[in-house]
Amino acid sequence: MSKILVTGGLGYIGSHTVVELVNAGYEPVIVDNLSNSNIKILDQITHIIGFTPVFYELDLSDEQAVKSLALTEPDVTGIIHFAAYKAVGESVALPLKYYQNNFYSLINILQAYYGKAINLVFSSSCTVYGQPDVLPVTEDAPVKPAQSPYGNTKQIAEEILQDMVNAGSNYKVIALRYFNPVGAHDSALIGELPIGVPQNLVPFITQSAIGKRGAITVYGNDYDTPDGSCIRDYIHVVDLGKAHVAALKLMEGAGYATGYDMFNLGTGNGTSVLQVIKAFEESTGEKLTYQIGPRRPGDVEKVWGDVTKSKKVLNWQAELGVEAMMSSAWNWEKYLSQSPF
Ligand code: NAD
Ligand code: WQD
Repeated sequence: MSKILVTGGLGYIGSHTVVELVNAGYEPVIVDNLSNSNIKILDQITHIIGFTPVFYELDLSDEQAVKSLALTEPDVTGIIHFAAYKAVGESVALPLKYYQNNFYSLINILQAYYGKAINLVFSSSCTVYGQPDVLPVTEDAPVKPAQSPYGNTKQIAEEILQDMVNAGSNYKVIALRYFNPVGAHDSALIGELPIGVPQNLVPFITQSAIGKRGAITVYGNDYDTPDGSCIRDYIHVVDLGKAHVAALKLMEGAGYATGYDMFNLGTGNGTSVLQVIKAFEESTGEKLTYQIGPRRPGDVEKVWGDVTKSKKVLNWQAELGVEAMMSSAWNWEKYLSQSPF
């Protein structure tokens, strides 16, 4: 059974990917420092997959710790690197925290396994596109100047990986540019665990619906979109997890010789903020209260992905729609309200 190192594997997307790895017959080895997760997620994963995956609590920005990990786990065939700080606003206030954590962690893991034939999947983001000139945005669209230190860490990480491959490493690398991951596993045992007031739309919606937050503020309805609110490409986190399995399988394929490639992970459909609110109400039967507020600085007006390459080359496409995204997010919020972490 192929052993896959999953850094940040107790996080939101990582935990869902661990489940899909097991479903696909892989053996995940989780590494996480719990800086933005909770050890109880390991128990939740255990309930879903029926056994407890190997877990190392360690800080990947600690070079020595990562070197000893590689000695303890020398026979991994793949690495999925989720571990990073991801809060855009915080990155503006604390850029060095983000550059140190996100770059030290990436470089330490790359160095520790350097020379081995490793299939590496990297968590990138559609944030690298900024506001695309053409929609839907394709993978060969120009990378725009980053709007935040966080976005910059993703852009520079992609360059680091390309430079490493071009220098003749033994790594095969696939960067996955996620659009907007939302939703939760249909067991409602794992999902997004926002700390503090959620900055993202869907967790704020579910917390508003359960009564933890007040009315939703729609950040602007004067954009050049059909209903005036911003448009995004929301993708179910379970579909996202399956895409990581597809990326590993592509790199494992006989004759696959591409050193570095990248894929958009979205549905290919744009959904506005007001449409998300409506979809939540229709799929859950819950009535939401919202108000229109000022635009949020840094928001792009509209972005959704061209997913042709992912369908044709990655052999993957999203299967779950906005209704499933909303209902699963709501079920997870209800679970959390009865068994708070
Ligand atoms: P998350 O914060 O839930 O998961 C990241 C995990 O990494 C957390 O469990 C955290 O404890 C861990 N971690 C962070 N720094 C670490 C370190 N130094 N050592 C060990 N563990 C560390 O975030 P997520 O939403 O699951 O995102 C996963 C990846 O996907 C991130 O790289 C993020 O930038 C990227 N991404 C996320 C989104 C999104 O909207 N969620 C969109 C695009 C890209
Ligand atoms: C979606 C839309 C808001 C909250 C962010 C990061 C990106 C990636 C995904 C890490 C926007 C609107 C939101 C609210 C609102 N993260 N909104 N009221 O900004 O597209 O992407 O998360 O990689 O890097 O930038 O997602 O969920 O914050 O916002 O109206 O209370 O919802 O203006 O149009 P975003 P989001």
